Amino acid sequence: MMQAQIATPAAVAAAGTPADYVVVEALRKVYNAGSRQQVEAVAPTSFTVKAGEFVSLLGPSGCGKSTLLMMIAGLDAPSQGSISVAGRAMTTPRAETGIMFQDPTLLPWKSALENVLFPFRAMNRPVDKYFDRAGALLDQVGLHGFHNHKPRQLSGGMRQRVAICRALVYEPDLLLMDEPFSALDAITRDEMNLVLMQMWEEHHRTALFVTHSIREAVYLSDRVLVMSRRPGRIIEDIRIPFARPRALEIGETPEFNEICGYLRSKIEHVPH
Ligand SMILES: Nc1ncnc2c1ncn2[C@@H]1O[C@H](COP(=O)(O)OP(=O)(O)O)[C@@H](O)[C@H]1O
Ligand SMILES: [Mg+2]
Repeated sequence: MMQAQIATPAAVAAAGTPADYVVVEALRKVYNAGSRQQVEAVAPTSFTVKAGEFVSLLGPSGCGKSTLLMMIAGLDAPSQGSISVAGRAMTTPRAETGIMFQDPTLLPWKSALENVLFPFRAMNRPVDKYFDRAGALLDQVGLHGFHNHKPRQLSGGMRQRVAICRALVYEPDLLLMDEPFSALDAITRDEMNLVLMQMWEEHHRTALFVTHSIREAVYLSDRVLVMSRRPGRIIEDIRIPFARPRALEIGETPEFNEICGYLRSKIEHVPH
């Protein structure tokens, strides 16, 4: 899987993988919270993500977004329902899925470059083969000249750039992101949205992005799925029509704000 070519939508289709890359069917999660206490985090919900598509899951805090994403990552078991990725039923985590969290979780004693290469070390792969690829990714996210810096020598936004490179370095076919920019200030967050957009346009992974920011979801996505309050389920599925590449300035257009307004009204009246 490491040597896999970059999976453009055309390449994915040519390889015979299904157009519906992620298929979630009647997925439900109930947690046992203490003796005989059960919390339904995700109500039975179904949706698909097409190969090469960028889809956001948007919903209020505590509605089950992370739970849903962790089940798709194979890191949490569903209580009911099924998930398939690339035509295969998900049972255990797949090495081909890249994950990013709010906390970039870099190793503090390792350089930026070493942190990007870490997935290969963790999998006992020969790291030297990937130096060039890791360095090129760091350059692409604007970290030329910072390859040998340690995390504490980098700003929050720079650390998340390193985390983006680490998620992309082994060329995952599916990228799952759980509010990766929520801890950043608004200006850095805009910058990171732009970096992520450029990287996604270049590498064209299938992407599922969790956020509670309406504007971030609209800027980044081909489709936005709105979740209800807990127990979360998809209550709205809207297509975002803007052409790519997208400049940050589209956020100032009436069309953009109209879509945000529509989503805001859905979220304000979000049913239980
Ligand atoms: N391991 C767990 N055990 C019990 N309850 C949990 C666990 N993880 C999450 N929950 C509960 O499930 C609900 C959804 O949580 P989460 O998926 O983290 O929401 P979100 O990411 O949308 O903020 C919350 O009520 C949370 O308290
Ligand atoms: Mg969460």
